[in-house]
Amino acid sequence: SPTPVHVLITGAAGQIGYALAPQVCRGAMLGADVPIVLHLLDIPPAEASLKGVAMELTDAAYPLLKGIVATVDVDEACKGVDIAVMVGGFPRGPGMERKEVMSKNVAIYKGQASALETHANAGCKVVVVANPANTNALILSNYAPKIPKENVTCLTRLDHNRALGQVSEKTGAPVSEVKNVIIWGNHSSTQYPDVNHGEVSGMPIRSAIGDDAYLDGEFVKTVQQRGAAIIAARKLSSALSAASSVCDHVRDWVNGTAPGTWTSMGVVSPGGDDAYGIEEGLMYSFPVTCANGRWSIVPGLKIDDRSRGLMDATAAELKEEKAMAEELIAAM
Ligand code: NAI
Repeated sequence: SPTPVHVLITGAAGQIGYALAPQVCRGAMLGADVPIVLHLLDIPPAEASLKGVAMELTDAAYPLLKGIVATVDVDEACKGVDIAVMVGGFPRGPGMERKEVMSKNVAIYKGQASALETHANAGCKVVVVANPANTNALILSNYAPKIPKENVTCLTRLDHNRALGQVSEKTGAPVSEVKNVIIWGNHSSTQYPDVNHGEVSGMPIRSAIGDDAYLDGEFVKTVQQRGAAIIAARKLSSALSAASSVCDHVRDWVNGTAPGTWTSMGVVSPGGDDAYGIEEGLMYSFPVTCANGRWSIVPGLKIDDRSRGLMDATAAELKEEKAMAEELIAAM
């Protein structure tokens, strides 16, 4: 039988961890025929709860699950890992400054970068979920220089899927008929959800909906603010949709995107025209296709002036986050 793939989930005792682990064990991430070993990491205050999650995973008797490493030791958690899903982080509490949250997370991601670099398998693929996702991923990448830059990504697939869902609701077409929307930039409210190249049932989204004012206004706002709307409704942040999108992100990255279809991923910008002029070294969400375990930015899309402005605005926010993170690290 094939060797199991070792999947690390950090923050595994949290909400997303609880929704994600079962999906991975059912094969939603790597396929229904790929055995896995789960590595679950959390911090000491959550140790009992983490053990409880591991007990439930044992009790679910998943045929694909060949082992569980549940630990609060980051080095032990990272040993021999092939896929790392970084969900653990310091949450922004009421009244907390952005800089304060950033400072806690930069310290966490700098430390975990070293653990991954030292202990993970060569070719390990990383997806950062914890916010600020793009900047946490950038720090991780910078402090794990032996991990190839293209192997460190952040999750904007949830935003991408939210955009597909909105187009589906508006047109009445099933979501499986909607494709090639784009999330540009930061996983924050400055992200630019772009439908200019998307299709629904084989028709351009703009023609199918026939309401540019909606697409340039309410649609963009709804996707940008969806996380807040979920919190308002559930009193908890998105968890099942985040977990499902993590599985989509890794599955497409490892197994490839469907012909004629792209997705959105936060990746380090290679700079230049191939990166639509987005500054080299920013962790920025682009439209990508994946094949043979590698992503490439979709080339040659026509960018109108309105899009250009929105793409640059979210890049400016990322640049500012990057500078803030660097300043915090220098002071550490
Ligand atoms: P949660 O608070 O329920 O769980 C977070 C877990 O991380 C907790 O169990 C906590 O103990 C653990 N943790 C804290 N520091 C850690 C460390 N240094 N190492 C390992 N584990 C650590 O939060 P939830 O709802 O699961 O969300 C997790 C993160 O994902 C948050 O930062 C949230 O903002 C972000 N998020 C990102 C999305 C995206 O699309 N990129 C979507 C939804 C949430």
